[in-house]
Parts: sequence; structure tokens; C-alpha cells
Amino acid sequence: MYGGACSKHMADLVIEPSKGLTGEITPPGDKSISHRAVMFAAIADGRTDITGFLPGEDTLNTMQAVRMLGITVEEKGPGALCVQGKGLQGLSEPSGILDLGNSGTGMRLLAGLLAGQDFFSVLTGDQYLVKRPMSRIVEPLRAMGAVIDGRTGGKQAPLAIRGAGKNTSPLSFISPFASAQVKSAILLCGLFADGVTSVTEPHKSRDHTERMLRSFGVSVEEQGLRVSIRGRQVLRGGGTLHIPADISSAAFFMVAACTVPGSDIVIRNVGVNPTRTGIIDVLTAMGADISLLAPREQAGEPVADVRVRYRRLHGTAVQGGYIPRCIDEIPVIAVAAATASGKTTIKDAAELRVKESDRIATMTAELRKMGAEVAEYPDGMEITGRDRLTGAVCESHGDHRIAMSLAVAGLTSAGQTTVRDAEWIETSFPGFGHMLRQLAY
Ligand code: S3P
Repeated sequence: MYGGACSKHMADLVIEPSKGLTGEITPPGDKSISHRAVMFAAIADGRTDITGFLPGEDTLNTMQAVRMLGITVEEKGPGALCVQGKGLQGLSEPSGILDLGNSGTGMRLLAGLLAGQDFFSVLTGDQYLVKRPMSRIVEPLRAMGAVIDGRTGGKQAPLAIRGAGKNTSPLSFISPFASAQVKSAILLCGLFADGVTSVTEPHKSRDHTERMLRSFGVSVEEQGLRVSIRGRQVLRGGGTLHIPADISSAAFFMVAACTVPGSDIVIRNVGVNPTRTGIIDVLTAMGADISLLAPREQAGEPVADVRVRYRRLHGTAVQGGYIPRCIDEIPVIAVAAATASGKTTIKDAAELRVKESDRIATMTAELRKMGAEVAEYPDGMEITGRDRLTGAVCESHGDHRIAMSLAVAGLTSAGQTTVRDAEWIETSFPGFGHMLRQLAY
């Protein structure tokens, strides 16, 4: 599927129209949970085993950063890690710069953890990550006592952090964003403070941090949109964390099956945490035929197999509290909308402009190349569906989810689609092209 050079540079993903997706797949492990698993296991007491760890570039960078903080992480097999946690005070000053590559989650959560240490560290990332906003975590972490500097006065990485150590202060923070990265950074720093730290959000963001801390025996309180944690609690290791497949990766196949006539697929072992299932709710509101089979629980997270059968979709409205529940899926929801009947409006999603790319601008530009009718707004898009898009040569803009969304669009389009610079897919979904080919041809 990948043509041209197979290196990190300039791989093309070439997509031919599909006559229907059939079969079963298990996408790789959840990215959000994988980052957290390796970080939290590092500050837990004793050994923690992890299965289903995502072997993507983003999460491997986090694993490497944790190693540079003095923690032994052994790779036991595909997705299987063994982390020798050293407890809350067990991290040590890294001798080099921690490079989180493309990952906002890696950088923002680690910054929270490092803000509570009694040592100095520097975080950096690739050409996209160093442009993303960091003041949203830098300001509250400074208020907790960390001394943080960085480019543009600390608004952008590289970030240099002198942690507050035993002088870390608790914080009651009212967040302007429904952001799990902001919430998690503050709660992680709060673990090192003497007192209670709380974060209140405008809408509920993904709660993997809260669930995983509880699975390590930490007490986390929730009252409506406010989450609180008492500092200096011990994380108890000794168990195994089984990470489910990433619903954000499954989403590409869900939309593919909803939009290619004749499709009928089962996606196995998908994490269906209610803070992440906006994609299922939005597609269902568009008329999709989706059922959750064998619902169960794994390491404090709800899991199910997801069956998706083709049915023509119609337009819908996606806004308000729905947005944080499907924020990473909006590019692929835009693809569903472009081939649905009627109009789809996406509002209250200005956060899309500060993701791996400006996803409102990049999806608008690329879908238009394929003949879609898209109006761009500061906080969203209006998409008028049509029967069929036309294959085109599209760009990933260095964004894994844009690349995969365009590949899905290519499956229902007339003619061939080429996604340029598709190697960015490796940040979150190694093997995507192979799985797509397995189902679609
Ligand atoms: C994530 C939170 C979200 C999401 C990102 C992963 C996390 O970002 O878009 O892909 O794991 O906490 P924000 O916190 O910026 O909304």
C-alpha cells in the first residue's frame, strides 16, 4: 500500500475504490491509555506489567523518556512491557533532553509529572509539536511552584522545567478548555503536593487518568465537572494493565464501513469509555448500523466488539459537550459527512486548530480537492454531502489522522487517491495500511 520510499520520509499511501469492507480486525492499543500506563507505572511502587501497549512512535517516545528518568522498562513481546516502578520519589534527573516527537499528550502529561520533581529537565518535540500551545499547562504548573521557561516566554516547547519538589503547592484550577491533557498534567503535579488539587472543566474530557490512578489504588474524587486528588498518595504497582484497542483508530474503519456499500465488519476489543464514544453516537445519529457486542471491562475501562454494517448516512449537527467526546474523530466524521445526504454542521471545535495540524483548515482543503462541498468557520465546518467524491492527490500535513481520514475517503471515491507523506500514520497506528487492505480488498 505504501509506495515510494518506505522510510520516514515521503511515503505515499495509494488507495483504490473498495467494493465493501468485510472481516474482523483488532486495532492497536489505545494511545491515551498507553502514554498513561508507562508514566504511572514508573511512579508506582514495584513492577507493573502492561499488555496491548501501542507500539506507535508517540508512545515509544514516552517510553524512552521514562527510561531517561531512570526507570527500567523491558519489552517482553508485541505490546507487552514490564515497568520496574520506583515509587513517587523514584525518578531521577535525566542527563539529556526528553524528545516527545509529535505527541502533545506525551509532552503535556510529562511536564505535569516533572513539575513536581526536585530536579531539572528539558522537553522538546518535532517541528509540529514545538509550534503547539503550551501555556495552558505552563501557567497552572508555575502556579504550583515549578519554574518553567521555554520559547516565546514559555508558551512553546522546548520547555525547561525546574520542578518544585517538596515545595509543590496544591491548586484549584478552573480550566477554560475541556482538555484531558491539561487536567492530567495538573493532577499529576498535584500528586507531589501537600494538599488537595482540583480541576474543573467546561465539559467532561476523557477520564483515563482518573480511572488508571484508581486502578493503582489512588483515591480520586469527582463532583460533576470537578476532579480532585489528595497529594502524596502511593500508587500500588504489582498488577497487569490490559490496554484495549484504540477507539480513535477503530473510528477510521467504522466510517469506512458506514460509507462503502456492501460493508460488514467487526472491530475487536475496542475501548468504549463513555468519554470517548462520541464517534459511535454521531454515526448513529447519522443513521449508521453499529452494534456493541460482548460488553466487558478491562483494567477499569469498558470494552466491546463493534459491528458496523453499511447503511447510507444522513447529515447531523455535532457541537457542545459532544465535541470533547469525539475531538480526535472529527476529521473522519467530516469524511462521513462529505458522502452523507444533506448537511452536517460541526461547531464549538476551535481546539481542532491546535492539534497535530490545524484540522479545520487541513480537512477543508483536502476534502475540497476530492470535490466535497465544505464551508470553513473559526470553530468548525459545514459540509454538504454528495453521492461520490473523486480521487485526488492529497497531503497529510504531517498529521496522522488527516492521512488516515483521507485514505478512508479514497475508499468510496471514483478513481485513485494518493495520500502524500503518509508515514505520519506511524505515530499512532503502525500497520494501518495493512489492516485497511485486509478489510477493503
Ligand atoms: C488526549 C487528549 C486530547 C486528545 C489527544 C489525546 C489525552 O487532547 O485530542 O489526542 O490522551 O489526554 P486535549 O487534551 O488537548 O483535548
